[in-house]
Amino acid sequence: MPAAAIRRPPGPRGLPFLGLTLAIRQDALGTLRRVAREYGDIVRLPVAFQDRIFLNHPDYIEQVLVIQQAKFHKSELTRRIVEGLLGQGLLLSEGDFWRRQRRLAQPAFHRSRINGYAATMAESAERHIHDWRDGEQRDLAREMMALTLDVAVRTLFGTSLPDQAQQVGHSMTFLMRYQLRRQRSPFRIPETWPTPRNKRAQRERDYLDSLVYRIIQERQSQPSNGRSDLLSLLMSAMDEDGSQMTPKQLRDETMTLFLAGHETTAQMLAWTWYLLGENPEAEVRLHQELRGVLGGRSPEPSDLMRLPYLHALMHEVLRLYPPAYIIARTSIEPGQIAGYDFRPGTTLLMSQWVMHRDARYYADPDAFRPERWLEGLADRLPAGAYFPFGDGPRRCIGQGFAMLEAAIVIATLAQRFQFRLVPGHPVIPEPLITLRPRHGIRMILHARN
Ligand code: HEM
Repeated sequence: MPAAAIRRPPGPRGLPFLGLTLAIRQDALGTLRRVAREYGDIVRLPVAFQDRIFLNHPDYIEQVLVIQQAKFHKSELTRRIVEGLLGQGLLLSEGDFWRRQRRLAQPAFHRSRINGYAATMAESAERHIHDWRDGEQRDLAREMMALTLDVAVRTLFGTSLPDQAQQVGHSMTFLMRYQLRRQRSPFRIPETWPTPRNKRAQRERDYLDSLVYRIIQERQSQPSNGRSDLLSLLMSAMDEDGSQMTPKQLRDETMTLFLAGHETTAQMLAWTWYLLGENPEAEVRLHQELRGVLGGRSPEPSDLMRLPYLHALMHEVLRLYPPAYIIARTSIEPGQIAGYDFRPGTTLLMSQWVMHRDARYYADPDAFRPERWLEGLADRLPAGAYFPFGDGPRRCIGQGFAMLEAAIVIATLAQRFQFRLVPGHPVIPEPLITLRPRHGIRMILHARN
């Protein structure tokens, strides 16, 4: 069957195309769920004024990400948003070039390497809350961004870059917003025009580039002295033919790890504090487990196996608020999904936000119940029903890193403080590049004895 035969929902108020486009613009998360509920497992959707195919069944998602993955590339949409900043880093590169880069980078993410960052992660967490006081209010979304930024800088570069870390964060955030706004705007001014925003974007890009190139140059002129930061590992990684990454490749991979690494983990942590604050029973259970195993000290990697509730909690947070809430692929050769034939150039969308809240696979899907993961849910779920880190060969290279960092930060902070949402503070998930709380998460700190 041709893909054109797939049903396309009429827009609200009878505006077939424009109506739905506007609904997606106004409330993408709600509209995606509604469309999946009302129109089923495969739907045509207008996004950015073009039809995309929206897949809402684990089998179809598995087909695209794993079984037929060779027929797909990252989508043009993703590319347009982040290519200017990330270049040909792992997130966007394709084919043999991607395979080589992944092969070179993979050892840096080996479990034993990652565990070596645990002490840095715990130290950053301790240091970050050093001056937090009982009764004060803080925006936990902002705090988690600053904390994961510090961890990213220290593990990537092996230095805390004290004067630069904040500026790096501001530059990254500005550039992501800038690109996203450009993509969403129907009137796209060329990036080369000297408007104030275009000029600022260029300045921020130049700043980040010069910083990364300077660090690479400094490293190249010094002996490595057994350094174990990610950048040093990438610099010394050597392919079978003896070749190494060029400075431009190092720059692109560094930017990619930096961006992919800190922003997503920060969102995961921000949603964790929100959910714990709203669910005191889960918080009590977590605290009992932490007290029993750690007794107030910072966790080490070997402790984590003895913290099953903490793991269940992290899975549940990633289910309800997946920082990567949608994945897109564009077909590069003909293929068939769900009995429909796709031409090359077809873009397919798969949403963690929608799939993770599908009542066919999750009982009481909107409820926060970490226990469901202790009851063997992971073994019962079909492949493709839970994919916070993607799946197949393009699965997140930083999954182990992110889960270790999140576990350490949660265990460290939860032993020191309890957080409660400031009454009346609105918490609204906003689907930017990652799923962020639109107004932050303002919470009151209660110190634990
Ligand atoms: C909670 C935290 C994180 C989440 C939810 C997350 C999610 C994802 C997802 C869904 C993908 C696949 C995208 C696709 O298939 O189109 C991905 C890829 C990737 N992630 Fe993560 N990520 C997280 C943390 C990290 C960290 C800490 C790093 C690095 C230190 C990282 C580096 C990457 C890279 C380099 C890729 C591209 C891999 C490739 O295509 O070979 N991520 N991530």
